[in-house]
Amino acid sequence: MLFRRFVRKDALLLLAGASMMHLFSLLSTPSMTPSSTWFYEAPVDLEPLPPPPEPAAVRRNVETETVTVTIPAPSDPTRILPRSNTLPHTSIVHHAPGWTLFRNLYMSDGTLFILSSNRSFPEIRMMTSTGLPAENTRENIALREPTRHHMDIITPESAKRRWGERVLTVKGNTLLVNEPSQFLRHYYHLCAELFFGVQAFWHGAHSDPSSTSPDRESQVLTHPTPPPLDRVVFAHATVDGWRDDPGFNAFFLRAAYPSLTVETWDDWEDRIAASAGGDRAWHFPLLLLTDRSAAHRGEICGSQTQRIAAEAWDYMRRQRLLMGMRVGGWWEPVRAAVLKFAGAPVSRKGIRELPMPDKIVITYISRQGGHRRKLVEGDHEVMVEALEELMQRKKGDLVEWELNVLQAEKMTKDEQLAIIARTTFLVGVHGNGLTHLLFMPPTKLSAVVEIFYPGGFAHDYHWTTRALGMTHFAVWNDTYVDCSQPKVDYPEGFQGNEVPVYGPTVAQIIEDRVDGKL
Ligand SMILES: *[C@@H]1O[C@H](CO)[C@@H](O)[C@H](O)[C@H]1NC(C)=O
Ligand SMILES: *[C@@H]1O[C@H](CO)[C@@H](O)[C@H](O)[C@H]1NC(C)=O
Repeated sequence: MLFRRFVRKDALLLLAGASMMHLFSLLSTPSMTPSSTWFYEAPVDLEPLPPPPEPAAVRRNVETETVTVTIPAPSDPTRILPRSNTLPHTSIVHHAPGWTLFRNLYMSDGTLFILSSNRSFPEIRMMTSTGLPAENTRENIALREPTRHHMDIITPESAKRRWGERVLTVKGNTLLVNEPSQFLRHYYHLCAELFFGVQAFWHGAHSDPSSTSPDRESQVLTHPTPPPLDRVVFAHATVDGWRDDPGFNAFFLRAAYPSLTVETWDDWEDRIAASAGGDRAWHFPLLLLTDRSAAHRGEICGSQTQRIAAEAWDYMRRQRLLMGMRVGGWWEPVRAAVLKFAGAPVSRKGIRELPMPDKIVITYISRQGGHRRKLVEGDHEVMVEALEELMQRKKGDLVEWELNVLQAEKMTKDEQLAIIARTTFLVGVHGNGLTHLLFMPPTKLSAVVEIFYPGGFAHDYHWTTRALGMTHFAVWNDTYVDCSQPKVDYPEGFQGNEVPVYGPTVAQIIEDRVDGKL
């Protein structure tokens, strides 16, 4: 019943918004065939408004986690309304350094255009860059500063003079990734950084905190599904430029966003070439622009975390739009989709406090079969023994304990994710394998135990773990640091194959945490 009421109300809203839709329909050609012209063809007949399409309505049943979706009937593409002489102006829905959600952004000849009669927009360098690979040199930093060629603000009159009627709408919701393949080709950077931020920002932009009480807000696991992202454009990466060697990026992207169309550099170049000379433009009704260099110009990424996702996450947190912040609720749809695809149990339900785990599952991701950042071989063995010894001691405990020593390179993705989906403690040397923390079920105990070369530290997994409401321990051989963050440092030996660790310390951290001492 409730569901039906929603549909009705939304339909009314749609009717009210119909005049907005006129504008959009005006900008799109009814059908594009390869031979059709770039010019907008005016509609011949103006028909009366047909009834509005049924809106997409989504209801989640909190108890059973089933999702009901009704798909709107396709709207009649030939429905075009009286012609208006103005292009829709650009507005910014949300903005954090490196993350900007635009309504009505335009692109012509490679330049992103903001159409407005005023200039009250965020600083352009906080939204975009030249997209060049980053190096830490004065020269390179200067080369990444955007110019008017990369983004510009023009008046609607000027746009009209430049483009006339030659503006085509690229329908749907677009994610424009303005960074080179430098970082995209890594499982961590694509999934735990870029898409982690995308999910935080997109979810936040469409979440509805009024639907829950503030004290529960941080604990919500389920929430209305945001509208889909229709396409991602990796504007500076080729087809190989966003794929990592083990193949996790493609697995993740296809599983988490099964309907997302991927466009890469060549496709974006097509659109640039087709609008060369700047006498015509593409119109993007809703576009999320992400830019790594711009994110690094922000305080939170640039000075505190070095994580681009942290700008998106923290902005939405401050706006109180990040639902289920303390339990990873905003991330849950992505996690659930990937685990479901992998055939692994999802096992999280509804709105409630973080549960205690049913079983204490320790998963050690070994890098000993890899090429760098390995433990001293003897220390690896001692640590496995210390963890096995812990298992022995816990036999007969009220809760069951389980130990997994993973050599990820010898397992399928499904096998890895099946274990991660029930892991309480993820243990490993600083590195890509810890990215799997994205798929751990947050519980009252869930923690990542990250081994660094003594004195070394980086925020990657530390920040990500905590953003999901879990705990992180940084281990330096026989000592550890909890929560309070040491300084970022990559001392000699950080990348080497002689990382020391005192196994009993790792076992102790886990035992103390389960006993409530940590
Ligand atoms: C500037 O113009 C945009 C639309 O072009 C509008 O959304 C925004 O509210 C305007 N800002 C001010 C301060 O007038
Ligand atoms: C690591 O800690 C153990 C136990 O305290 C100690 O015996 C060993 O010398 C330490 N290793 C390094 C490299 O500091």
